[in-house]
Amino acid sequence: MSTIVFLLVLMTSSFLVISSENTNNVYSPCADTKVKKSDGFTFSIAFASRNSFSYNGNQQLSPCDRRLSLSSSNSQIAVFRPKVDEISLLTINTSSFSPDSYGGYMVAFAGRKYAARSLPAFVANSTYTVTSFTLVLEFKKGRLQNLYWKRDGCSKCTGNSNFVCLNNQDCAIRTSNCKNRGGSVDCSLGIQLAFSGTDKHLSVLNSWYEVENLRQYSLFGLYSNLRDSLTGQYNKMF
Ligand SMILES: *[C@@H]1O[C@H](CO)[C@@H](O)[C@H](O)[C@H]1NC(C)=O
Ligand SMILES: *[C@@H]1O[C@H](CO)[C@@H](O)[C@H](O)[C@H]1NC(C)=O
Repeated sequence: MSTIVFLLVLMTSSFLVISSENTNNVYSPCADTKVKKSDGFTFSIAFASRNSFSYNGNQQLSPCDRRLSLSSSNSQIAVFRPKVDEISLLTINTSSFSPDSYGGYMVAFAGRKYAARSLPAFVANSTYTVTSFTLVLEFKKGRLQNLYWKRDGCSKCTGNSNFVCLNNQDCAIRTSNCKNRGGSVDCSLGIQLAFSGTDKHLSVLNSWYEVENLRQYSLFGLYSNLRDSLTGQYNKMF
């Protein structure tokens, strides 16, 4: 993977304030660790074509696995370090990065011997761009087991002609409306994180429960300084 290009913007919601020391000193997304609540946890998202995430055409490997040779393909990587069990909104600013120029799909991953990764999620091609995602990190006794994209259908965009519902699961904007393609919409990606399962002390991670009980877009309202840049534009536009 060529370069680390993204700026991490990470905000934690004020109603989940747990202040406690970080005890996880593993900072590489390609290393194994066990975490407890409020530790920092490093994971990564790689952008590339859908095919470049599988080996021999069918085996889905972690981007940390050299057999995938993502580094020699057209790819980009972003590294994040959210706090375990705090609801976080990650943003990837696309003003100088167009996901469709890097294959248009993304995979979230962490770990080496205990590698976990998500399935590839469609982000963008020259026609459509999806900007809103929810990623669940599932732990068991503090070890990451699984990462998956949680979708809630197209309820947010049904009936809105500025959006297209792709595969009954993602609300997409026309790429030609994106700023990086000459349009007026900031198509930066917003990735809502949630944690589920148990930490290394067997404490239950609850942030998934919180997300489930809030509508995805109302969560964006918690991040007041992002609200204008990410959701305000939709309100203005529609
Ligand atoms: C992305 O970066 C541009 C240029 O720095 C800025 O104008 C824009 O508001 C940023 N978008 C978000 C969502 O942070
Ligand atoms: C872009 O993606 C959509 C949804 O997956 C697909 O229907 C369309 O054919 C793609 N367009 C191009 C130009 O690849």
